[in-house]
Amino acid sequence: MKYQTQKIALAYFAVAMALFAVQVSMGLVLGYIYIQPNFLSELLPFNVGRMLHTNSLVVWLLLGFFGAAYYLVPEESEREIHSPMLAYLQLAIFVIGTAGVVVTYLFNLFDGNWLLGNEGREFIEQPRWVKVGIVVAALIFLYNISMTVLAGKKTAITNILLLGLWGLALLFLFAFYNPSNLALDKQYWWFIVHLWVEGTWELVMASILAFLMLKLTGVDREVVEKWLYVIVATALFSGILGTGHHYYWIGTPGYWQWIGSIFSSLEVVPFFGMMAFAFVMVWKGRRDHPNKAALLWSLGCAVLAFFGAGVWGFLHTLHGVNYYTHGTQITAAHGHLAFYGAYVCLNLAIISYAMPILRGRDPYNQVLNMASFWLMSGGVVFMTFTLTFAGTVQTHLQRVMGEGYMDVQDQLWIFYAMRFGSGIAVVLGAILFIYAVTMPRREVIEPGLQSPAE
Ligand code: HEM
Ligand code: HEM
Ligand SMILES: [Fe+2]
Repeated sequence: MKYQTQKIALAYFAVAMALFAVQVSMGLVLGYIYIQPNFLSELLPFNVGRMLHTNSLVVWLLLGFFGAAYYLVPEESEREIHSPMLAYLQLAIFVIGTAGVVVTYLFNLFDGNWLLGNEGREFIEQPRWVKVGIVVAALIFLYNISMTVLAGKKTAITNILLLGLWGLALLFLFAFYNPSNLALDKQYWWFIVHLWVEGTWELVMASILAFLMLKLTGVDREVVEKWLYVIVATALFSGILGTGHHYYWIGTPGYWQWIGSIFSSLEVVPFFGMMAFAFVMVWKGRRDHPNKAALLWSLGCAVLAFFGAGVWGFLHTLHGVNYYTHGTQITAAHGHLAFYGAYVCLNLAIISYAMPILRGRDPYNQVLNMASFWLMSGGVVFMTFTLTFAGTVQTHLQRVMGEGYMDVQDQLWIFYAMRFGSGIAVVLGAILFIYAVTMPRREVIEPGLQSPAE
């Protein structure tokens, strides 16, 4: 660790991983409710569990991004973080806000209260006071990181990281706009949900991947930067108007069907670019970095993001196809592989890279870490297949043949049973990962190799 303040990242990564464990366990509970519909129906209704699953996902991914920024910005800009105290304050606000969401939902408190009660829109269900806390914390973060970068060296990596982080924070402001016209409400709601994962977060992804490639493969910075600019340009060019793929059936004018279809098809390009980038860097690179686990997660990230976002996204993005598949298990299949490939793997890659350095040791428990990659990724890929099959059958029976929703669900149980099975693999993989990066490596003393002094 070159800079003392990089240590801040450790606290962020620790909270992120704890929430990651909560997120996947909650997924498993939801998967079980699909098989045993009355499971926990009094204590933890499905909608509350679902909210906890998706929101803990978003919060831990964001905490991972913040941690990554606190880790890589000092190294890139060759400066200590402006104020470590503000960084810890920011983390504290996030933890209090998260606890507030959980308590409000679990005990169904302050129902209907404009400030304290929960709000209903998917992914932005937090009570309004938590939303304000998120904005305050984001402002503290942006101030702290921007001051650090402004005082030090500016690189393409930090510029793009900052652009992404500023963008995502500003877009969150739409969470405060809740028009009563449902079509208008949905139109702005997608500014957050879509322009995050298919716009600003992609910039964060590209810059963190670029940082990892720079460190792990030893290629020249100029080469990394050229790729970075192309990826960012194609991401923004396609992603912004690509929002149209959510405007097909919400009451917006018909031209969105063409704008959405054309631009969102182009969204495959930046994800393909990131995959090509990662492999070309490894191929060209001269460095044989000891941290193999971080490299595995980085390559896995680029590949699975291409399949989850690019291929599984394109699968249902043309309006003629989406007319049939909208809101079916096809959507869930895509949502899982895309979030996992792009953002879960990205965070686990930077955590795998940074943890040994932050804790001052050689990459440890590498084999366990790599085993967790295969177990977790295998689980998510299998889950994606089961949901894709479920979604195909569902689309046909429900949307083509016109059978009732619940009658169709009854016939899909075999896929849901398999989804639950793959979920167990994912949760075990997550536990293995957390164990691998947090536990010290056991000292292996082979007989006969004891110190010669004895
Ligand atoms: C790191 C891994 C995971 C990620 C990134 C993830 C992500 C997501 C996302 C984005 C959604 C919302 C999907 C949508 O609106 O289409 C969701 C819902 C859901 N997830 Fe996960 N999840 C993960 C792990 C799991 C696991 C292990 C299970 C357990 C089997 C699971 C089961 C579910 C269920 C049942 C839903 C609700 C779907 C519905 O509303 O019908 N997830 N998850
Ligand atoms: C990492 C990037 C991405 C992530 C994390 C992601 C995640 C998601 C999630 C969670 C949903 C469900 C939202 C909801 O209804 O609540 C969704 C919907 C959708 N995504 Fe993505 N996505 C990504 C990239 C893409 C790309 C590149 C495409 C197109 C090529 C795409 C096409 C779609 C479409 C068409 C829908 C609407 C599905 C429907 O009508 O039900 N996505 N995405
Ligand atoms: Fe989208």
